[in-house]
Amino acid sequence: MRIGVLTGGGDCPGLNAVIRAVVRRAEVGFGDELVGIADGWRGLLEGRTLPLDVERCRGILPRGGTILGTSRTNPYAAPDGPARVLATAAELGLDAIVAIGGEDTLGVAHRLAAEGLAVVGVPKTIDNDLAGTELTFGFHTAVQTATEAIDRLHTTAESHDRVIVCEVMGRHAGWIATYAGIAGGATAILVPEEPFDLDEVCEVLRVRHAKGRYASIVVVAEGAVPKEGTLTLAAAELDAFGHPRLGGIAAVLAPEIERRTGIETRMTILGHIQRGGSPTAFDRVLATRFGVAAAEAVHEGAFDQMVALRAGQIVRVPLAEALAAPKHLDPELLHGVADWFRG
Ligand code: F6P
Repeated sequence: MRIGVLTGGGDCPGLNAVIRAVVRRAEVGFGDELVGIADGWRGLLEGRTLPLDVERCRGILPRGGTILGTSRTNPYAAPDGPARVLATAAELGLDAIVAIGGEDTLGVAHRLAAEGLAVVGVPKTIDNDLAGTELTFGFHTAVQTATEAIDRLHTTAESHDRVIVCEVMGRHAGWIATYAGIAGGATAILVPEEPFDLDEVCEVLRVRHAKGRYASIVVVAEGAVPKEGTLTLAAAELDAFGHPRLGGIAAVLAPEIERRTGIETRMTILGHIQRGGSPTAFDRVLATRFGVAAAEAVHEGAFDQMVALRAGQIVRVPLAEALAAPKHLDPELLHGVADWFRG
């Protein structure tokens, strides 16, 4: 077979590990020919490809980013976009495409599958907000990076008896915030799933600091929202898929916490630091398992599906099921676990 491979959406540690695994399983195991598609769906709109074979994949397993490039291009944003993608895939002689991406990239894959494209998905995102799979690759690495940052913030906050607000990514899900907050011993964790009242957070900080010389770390997810009428945040711009570009809530919270509590407060926005760098061993293994399974799914004609992790096993899930609703944070993690360490 001739298989195209693309990576779409925000980059993510482990993308190269997936690419390498798809290529190895397909080329060595099935004798396939691989075609790298440049910059996600944009490559199929513009007919841009890259050579892709086992040799080209040497040394990429530990490397962050994606050798294929990525973009947030939405072919459905232009009236002739989907037809152009299908025409390019036909011109390139592709029998199937492995699309590695999150909700947006796989959403496009699902729509194109309905128009006849033979596509298998691989679930990627540091946000871990894609349903159908217990984990997406990249999440573990982002949590590790955020936890290490929180550990560092702790020592400087302790030296100055300060509050430090640490903003993490995650879009509209609080997975990174909650995992990193628990792992990093945060005093408060603010997530998009549960609007927060800053007065309540300030009260926790006041009580804690009144007890002695304590540093406090407040972890806030970029998509966290205040309870109505308690705090005003600026409206965000939208991307090609209509999602708001998040980031910056910590810059609003830090001065407000300082004003309301009188405790010196600083903030750090981790931003793309969480997306860069080498994947953890866990993500390398998960990405490799996903890549092998995706090549096998192509050969079994399991199109319009994605590979997924469930109860430790790699399974296949219809894209329609994975895309039906985002996977929000398990409240048990926040209230059954993190709450015991609040304050
Ligand atoms: O979806 C991954 C993610 O890193 C989100 O956590 C974040 O909101 C967004 O992408 C940032 O996107 P960009 O790299 O386009 O600024």
